[in-house]
Amino acid sequence: MCGIVGYVGDRECKELLLTGLERLEYRGYDSAGIALVNGSIDVTRRVGRVQMLRDAVGDGSHPATLGLAHTRWATHGGVTESNAHPIEACDGSGVTAVHNGIIENYVQLRTRLLEQGHQFHTDTDSEVISHLVEEHYDGDLVEAVRLAYNELHGHFAFAVIHRDHPNEILAARRQCPLVVGVGDGETFMASAIPAFMSETRRVQYVLDDEIVVATPEGATFLTGEGDVIERPIEHVDWDESAAEKQGYETFMLKEIHEQPDAIAETIGERLYHGELQLDGLNLDEQQIRELSRVVILACGTAYHAGLIGRYLLEEWARIPSESDIASEWRYRRPVIDERTLVIAVSQSGETIDTIAAMKEARAHGAHVLAVTNVMGSQATRDCDSVLYTRAGLEVGVAASKTFTSQVVLMYLLALKLGIVRGTIDATRAETLLAQVRALPELAQQTLDRGHLVEPIADRFWESEFFLYLGRYIGLPIALEGALKLKEISYIPTDAYAAGEMKHGPIALLDDSTPVVVIATDNHVYEKVLSNIQEVRARGAHVIAVATEGNTRIEELAEYVLYLPRTEPELQAALAILPLQQLAYAIAKRRGLDIDKPRNLAKTVTVE
Ligand code: G6P
Repeated sequence: MCGIVGYVGDRECKELLLTGLERLEYRGYDSAGIALVNGSIDVTRRVGRVQMLRDAVGDGSHPATLGLAHTRWATHGGVTESNAHPIEACDGSGVTAVHNGIIENYVQLRTRLLEQGHQFHTDTDSEVISHLVEEHYDGDLVEAVRLAYNELHGHFAFAVIHRDHPNEILAARRQCPLVVGVGDGETFMASAIPAFMSETRRVQYVLDDEIVVATPEGATFLTGEGDVIERPIEHVDWDESAAEKQGYETFMLKEIHEQPDAIAETIGERLYHGELQLDGLNLDEQQIRELSRVVILACGTAYHAGLIGRYLLEEWARIPSESDIASEWRYRRPVIDERTLVIAVSQSGETIDTIAAMKEARAHGAHVLAVTNVMGSQATRDCDSVLYTRAGLEVGVAASKTFTSQVVLMYLLALKLGIVRGTIDATRAETLLAQVRALPELAQQTLDRGHLVEPIADRFWESEFFLYLGRYIGLPIALEGALKLKEISYIPTDAYAAGEMKHGPIALLDDSTPVVVIATDNHVYEKVLSNIQEVRARGAHVIAVATEGNTRIEELAEYVLYLPRTEPELQAALAILPLQQLAYAIAKRRGLDIDKPRNLAKTVTVE
């Protein structure tokens, strides 16, 4: 997730762009940069926040009336000044671009462009955009961008300017946000409305697979084939705080809805044309085959993602795997050695217990793999290899999109290990990879049914206790669903292995208890149905999360939240979505501060 802002008009744009960037800093702040066109293109980039960029460009005026700016959330390539945007093509080309998202086929494009003589100067996937435009340019910038756009795979938004086209910004979008601000004799282009809201409230939304040509007179929208599309101008009347949240009432709600995108980014180029590539894993095939154990360590929500990882690694890679809470594991006397892979999962990469456990694991000679969302975080320095989730900045204290991204990374990792170790046959791997690829779409379909949690919240928002039950990969989902509810609604919850309920929690059930049961389609489905019978016999109320088509459950549960059908293991990434929405709907009815639940912190750097 990065922030893009562009301006073309008759005013000096330096300050407009910097102010716009500051309003997009919530989208990432690893580095920032600005390109100002005035005969030549002046580009300034800095690591760190927009303030660093401000200090670098100084207070003085700049005559440019065309410019682009960018604030970066690093995904490909480290947090360095040379990887900051705007990114120029070859020296003297006059082409500069900014980009948000992932170019899945950048390796192939980069290889070809290098062969064609282009000189690359960053480690980013983004740089191929500038060079492609340069390659196709013969005086017609629109056509050059159109041809470049048609070569890109992935999901992205980008904007391009050219030294010799002082009245044009070219931009395109596939799945990542992009919006045009319409002024009088000036046009803005940005990832989000707040970037230009103080200047204009007239907007045109760029839709998927569209190219935009912005000039001072306005914007023209084109298809990839170059056909013109009509786009109405709309008026936004949000206040500043609503705008920051893209019109959502809280960051958490925004982040819940960003999950299809976060999942898509996390998959990105790692899965391309059925090939699974995990750059950063830093283990060769021989080392993967020789692994004797996997230990997954984490805290909080990340621990639940790790639990799912354990099931997957056993299921697909047939490696003995365990998962533990970092603060517990570090005080055990763990039995690990050089053939142990320790996976530390941490959204922030800063949680002290996880970091300490990583150090302990390395001291025992294990290979430590960090799975984190934050480039340059402590975890990335205390490990042997890193795989990034790419959920973008998460502001809500209760994790949502970072969890599903971690789960998706666990899918990729377990599949990779299974394929290399030969424990998963080629046909099954192919099916699973295709279904992983479909997850963003399936997550969207699941979220679109969010209204179905409302009657459940209406009925149970004043309940004094919720029990969550699950088996197999449904158990970590029950744990995470229960954690969400207790974090943001303060309702006491318990989450249990459904088969274990009879040994304790069943004593808590009466005719006032809502019981959420994860009953997705897998080999324990029938067992879960029996557990539901046990709950019903005590008069409690069953809310089931089940798979589309398994309608028999309607005879047993009072409410059924259906998920689209996919492979059994992959349902975990979907099953949490209605539970986040249910927790949210209940917390809202209780009138609580959902983004900042009491006593909790987003990152915990104390033991
Ligand atoms: C805090 C947060 C949780 C998070 C946990 C672990 O408790 O409130 O949402 O799951 O820390 O954080 P990490 O950054 O290591 O994933």
